[in-house]
Amino acid sequence: MTRARGRLARLALLLAVAAASVAGCMPAGATTQGKDISSLYDVFLVGGIIVAAIVWVLVTWSILRYRRRDDRLPKQTEGNLKIEVLWTVIPLITVLVLFGLTAYTLGNVSAVEPGGVNVKVVAFRWQWQITYSDAGVTDTGTTDHPLQMVLPVDTPIHVTLESLDVVHAMYLPAFLFQRDATPGYPTTFDLQITQPGTYPGACAELCGIGHDQMLFSVKAVDLATYRQWLANRVAGGSAAP
Ligand code: CUA
Repeated sequence: MTRARGRLARLALLLAVAAASVAGCMPAGATTQGKDISSLYDVFLVGGIIVAAIVWVLVTWSILRYRRRDDRLPKQTEGNLKIEVLWTVIPLITVLVLFGLTAYTLGNVSAVEPGGVNVKVVAFRWQWQITYSDAGVTDTGTTDHPLQMVLPVDTPIHVTLESLDVVHAMYLPAFLFQRDATPGYPTTFDLQITQPGTYPGACAELCGIGHDQMLFSVKAVDLATYRQWLANRVAGGSAAP
């Protein structure tokens, strides 16, 4: 009995270490929206590990404890109302809690903050274009010189995303963010970047022969630098911040 308990404790420790290392490998999300999504992932991951641990332990225990020893028929059980109610109610509650957390997170991620800056992003075969709507400045990427979007940190960025031709998808792995760009159906969303840096992005929808050339990047700078850079652009200055 003590040895079995020791084995269980070791298994629990192993699972905890595995959960911690997997969680450490996941990007934390460099936007407030990405952080919300990252926290939701963590809840699902830990929940999944707990469920898997319970199932594996019980299955292993049943296999070993009730393995065939002779040809006698084991005790036959018709059913057990208590256990049946329990194994209906527990998963139901689990799914409802996960649904509630997901709906809450989606609400946060889709929320639009007042103030901030406005940009319009257009996907087309095979690059991206950004218009800094507050200043009327437009940059268009080419396959040789992919678009670099310059955006401020700690500021709500209102993005309008659309496509000129086929379905593309704006994908920024560091933001844990992806959104389809569907022709004829512009979509709007907010991003609030929390850390300055350069973040690679790509089209995540197989859109044709040039799909792999639809790379871009986001350069996140502080708001003052962003404003200065944009004012400089309006005055005809260089595209690099
Ligand atoms: Cu655009 Cu893939």
